[in-house]
Amino acid sequence: MTETYNYKVVRQFAIMTVVWGIVGMLVGVIIAAQMAWPALNFDIPYLTFGRLRPLHTNAVIFAFGGCALFAGSYYIVQRTCHTRLISDGLAAFTFWGWQAIIVAAAVTLPLGITTSKEYAELEWPIDIAIAVVWVAYAVVFFGTIAKRRVKHIYVANWFFAAFIITIAVLHIVNNIELPVSLTKSYSVYAGVQDAMVQWWYGHNAVGFFLTAGFLGLMYYFIPKLAERPVYSYRLSIVHFWSLVFTYIWAGPHHLHYTALPNWAQSLGMVMSVILLAPSWGGMINGVMTLSGAWHKLRSDPVLRFIIVAVSFYGMSTFEGPMMSIKTVNALSHYTDWTIGHVHSGALGWVGFMSLGCIYYLLPRLYGREIYSLKLVELHFWTSTIGIVLYITAMWVAGVMQGLMWRAVNADGTLTYSFIESVAATHPFYIIRFLGGALYLAGTLVMGYNLWRTCSGNKPVVAEIPMPALAH
Ligand code: HEM
Ligand code: HEM
Repeated sequence: MTETYNYKVVRQFAIMTVVWGIVGMLVGVIIAAQMAWPALNFDIPYLTFGRLRPLHTNAVIFAFGGCALFAGSYYIVQRTCHTRLISDGLAAFTFWGWQAIIVAAAVTLPLGITTSKEYAELEWPIDIAIAVVWVAYAVVFFGTIAKRRVKHIYVANWFFAAFIITIAVLHIVNNIELPVSLTKSYSVYAGVQDAMVQWWYGHNAVGFFLTAGFLGLMYYFIPKLAERPVYSYRLSIVHFWSLVFTYIWAGPHHLHYTALPNWAQSLGMVMSVILLAPSWGGMINGVMTLSGAWHKLRSDPVLRFIIVAVSFYGMSTFEGPMMSIKTVNALSHYTDWTIGHVHSGALGWVGFMSLGCIYYLLPRLYGREIYSLKLVELHFWTSTIGIVLYITAMWVAGVMQGLMWRAVNADGTLTYSFIESVAATHPFYIIRFLGGALYLAGTLVMGYNLWRTCSGNKPVVAEIPMPALAH
């Protein structure tokens, strides 16, 4: 049977989402164990925390999250535009190109080849490859939009469009560098300008990669799973414009109390506080789409993943604006509170959203019923308990560290030495390790379930139903 749509590339990206998810989380669990038991660095340079940490962040954000976004956006743009991708060849190029970039990252980072810019560690030849693949992605996506057979451009595609364009601009501007050899380059920016450009990039990697792209998934999959139109289409448009306008200014909240001019820090803080409104507008729009269909949460574990993801989105976008207030940041910065915030967004929002979408996509793309809904349920609870352990441990540890570091005696000397705060943190690192291991265990259950689904012979699902979204 020839397919109307190009599902091959969606299938490929969907499978690699699970593969890279397991790899990236495993590295996360290893570095969490190293924080608790430093002997696990084994004095082998390739395995030290400093080299594995960027391997973890690159693997989970760009390999795991990236593949989920490629899979989701390629599926959604075809379904909502009622047309096949503009070019199968170019789509295949983006798949193989992206996988090659991931492999290059997995080789160079443990070797210690790095620009040392966070989330932009890859060296210049890989940066160029990323730019080329990304432009191909843009051509496939916008080309497909251009040949759509419906007049309307569904809101999910607006979010994907913003994500694709902004990531291209951020990546290129932040990585302008001077190569001195094949494996070493220096940024063209220096000092405080370098920091500013880097965090303009870093924060908007959160805003457009980890947020806008996943909101695109939210706007398609919640209505599909709830079998109801988006709660408010008007709100989704307000949500879109206010979010993209505000995010781009908020980067300086990563540079409070640094050499960055004070006015820029304050601007970043104010924009971050304002960002609460569009973020919650979007969250409310997602959750309210379920009104009248709440009972589905009891029977549909896949919908549960996605709704819990949106709840974590609400939580981390409440926490973020609070942490961007300078007086709060004076306590939270440098502590594990930041790591707790990151992972409530990463494990809760990005992780659960990706996993939920893959549970939706893979069985349908293989025309099979899911092998076991009980295992989906097991995954859901194992990973949810994992997130709760991870983030509560980091919150408690973070606030404790901040308070210990600032405590002073009557004579002005510090109450605690730094090492006392490290010792006090140790039990929380063990709890975080356990939480991470549970989250990974859940994902392994998913891998098994989906493997049985795709290789098994449970009844074939006839045709993927056409989308019934709000227009
Ligand atoms: C309204 C939305 C948000 C705001 C205003 C915000 C604000 C902040 C603030 C103030 C910090 C701490 C900066 C520091 O002290 O160094 C931070 C760190 C971070 N946030 Fe958020 N956040 C938001 C949402 C999110 C979401 C949804 C995610 C993930 C999906 C996320 C991922 C991160 C990451 C990865 C960092 C760590 C950056 C680093 O230092 O490496 N944030 N955020
Ligand atoms: C099994 C699950 C995971 C575990 C055990 C884990 C563990 C860790 C550890 C130990 C760190 C280093 C913290 C430090 O330097 O103090 C870290 C950093 C980070 N992880 Fe994870 N992680 C997991 C999943 C994820 C996922 C799914 C994502 C994203 C989608 C993610 C994104 C990040 C980011 C952005 C950072 C850097 C944070 C910062 O610089 O502030 N992690 N992770």
